[in-house]
Amino acid sequence: MRTVVVPRIGTVAAWRDHARKLAQQGVPADRVLWRVGGDDAADLFARDAPVPDRSGRALKLARQAIESLETALCHRDPERFARAYDIVLRLSDGTLRWGDRSDPSMHRLLLQEKAVRRDIHKMHAFVRFREVGRPDAPRRAFAAWFEPEHPITEAAAPFFARRFGDMDWIIATPDLTARFEDGALSFSVTETGDRPPPDATEDLWRTYFASIFNPARLMVSAMTSEMPHKYWKNLPEAALIPELIRTAPARARAMQDAAPTIPPPHVDRLRPQRQLPDTEGLTLATLKPAHDACRRCPIGVCATQAVAGEGPPDAALMIVGEQPGDAEDLSGRPFIGPAGQVFDRCAQAAGLDRSAAYVTNAVKHFKFQPRGKRRLHQRPTTDEIAHCRWWLDLERQLLRPKLILALGATAAEALTGSGAGLLKRAGTVEAGPDGVPILLSLHPAHVLRLPDAAARARAEAALTRDLAQARELALR
Ligand code: URA
Repeated sequence: MRTVVVPRIGTVAAWRDHARKLAQQGVPADRVLWRVGGDDAADLFARDAPVPDRSGRALKLARQAIESLETALCHRDPERFARAYDIVLRLSDGTLRWGDRSDPSMHRLLLQEKAVRRDIHKMHAFVRFREVGRPDAPRRAFAAWFEPEHPITEAAAPFFARRFGDMDWIIATPDLTARFEDGALSFSVTETGDRPPPDATEDLWRTYFASIFNPARLMVSAMTSEMPHKYWKNLPEAALIPELIRTAPARARAMQDAAPTIPPPHVDRLRPQRQLPDTEGLTLATLKPAHDACRRCPIGVCATQAVAGEGPPDAALMIVGEQPGDAEDLSGRPFIGPAGQVFDRCAQAAGLDRSAAYVTNAVKHFKFQPRGKRRLHQRPTTDEIAHCRWWLDLERQLLRPKLILALGATAAEALTGSGAGLLKRAGTVEAGPDGVPILLSLHPAHVLRLPDAAARARAEAALTRDLAQARELALR
């Protein structure tokens, strides 16, 4: 029996040399005991009596097989050397095909290769350096502590040498320490005390991590599978993770709200159509095709159609909502979806005949965000409201109503120019720029968003009161 002791540093290269010599001497796999020794073990090859050369052969392996074997040899399994030697012998004499997973040894080796690759990937991603050098040193110096699952330090370190080639650094692991000094990479067995001292750089890492963290892309399960908990203890930024996860939905919403409306690429082609159409000859009845063609803002590009106002051209009451919803976009008529049903119910309770009023919206196209098969309503921005005000002003000039009822904050902003809190202003009348009074009310969709029945009933009662007031002021 041969005993081969491979060193802790240069393990894979030593195994390769020994395997080649053993194969040349025709030593079968079951006649070799493999062990990993200390750093002085490089010459401990073949301590026992030599086996006579019976069927020596040169090992010839495909590059892919060599790479996989050498990666798998970084696994912590003590059997890995024996298994790899057995496999190379059988590959060489043609009794095993590379990648044949029906062979238990090959199957295990490929699994171990995968585990090692994953561990190396984790090390590349999660090593965190702290600056440890003196300020007057010619090269900046950093240190990091990392605990990989497998003895991968030698395999993982060249990546850091490429990436941080202009600084000196040490990465200590419980097994080996990689050192990069003046451009030269070396390894030593880790001694106690190599763990880098904490210093201000940890704060920098925290700031960095918090700033690259994108709450809109947070998927906790994917994150913990990519960054398992066991790595967290050596990551300064890990202390932030629970809080970042907790606040992510709110921050994602804030990002969405703050996001500019980005015109799709084809908007440029439509730019010529953005010129204001000629108002000559337009009537309330002929506004719809003009709205359809409008590209003053990009909302209309994605909508099915514009939704024009509807009602008698001489109505004394003009009712203005926010923008068409999904149902209105498909049908081309205002207030016929869920919010429209609330509106109709309240109007009926208020004794207001909807068909006597001119019902329209501040924005003529449906703005939405696609989510699977659904189209989620999105509030128009101040800019979009301002673009569409051109049409609303035209409707006001053509209609000359006695009173305008603004339903919701968007309508209030479009009609009065003020986006100030509607909860306080609802139920009051403000003077419009042309002197036409504007009665402010909450939007019917507000009723639908309230969580409990009592609050919904109160909101419906308030809307009904406002509709009754509108009827009184405009239609009596
Ligand atoms: N919400 C509105 O503001 N208007 C509609 O037409 C439908 C829903």
